[in-house]
Amino acid sequence: MSILNILQYPDERLHDSAKPVAKIEDRIQKLVEDMSDTMYAASGIGLAATQVNVQERVIVIDISESRDDLLVLINPEIILKEGTIIFEEGCLSVPGVFDRVERFERVKVRALDKLGEEFDLDAEGILSVCIQHEIDHLDGKVFVEYLSRLKQGRIIKKLKKQQQNLDYQEVL
Ligand code: NI
Repeated sequence: MSILNILQYPDERLHDSAKPVAKIEDRIQKLVEDMSDTMYAASGIGLAATQVNVQERVIVIDISESRDDLLVLINPEIILKEGTIIFEEGCLSVPGVFDRVERFERVKVRALDKLGEEFDLDAEGILSVCIQHEIDHLDGKVFVEYLSRLKQGRIIKKLKKQQQNLDYQEVL
């Protein structure tokens, strides 16, 4: 079991665009395991490889209360989208920040599972929001970038201050 380091906004590497996975090999299986360990340890409901500084199109999600219903999406593509939903989102890369974002209410996503089998999934509500949020990460976009410039400026200031405080605590 390995817990990976999660990049914190506004780390520039969160703006990198991830490449499709060419082959589901042992390396990818290990990445999926480490990403799910990391997501569960951080009590998140989703994590994209971009957030652990791996620029490949891999996502793990678990929206279940019991934390035992792992969904793995490799090379996900949204093939249908409809409706709108406004949800208050947070992100493991933007700790302590929550804000409202408008997304598609329902999506159909096509992806490979961790064995490389293609499947389609119809998602709505929180699962749909989560899939769109994580695919954004793979495209180098963080949810706060849907907010106003003013809010983004405040968030960056707040996070930089938190990060400075953390550095200071480490020195002690
Ligand atoms: Ni996120």
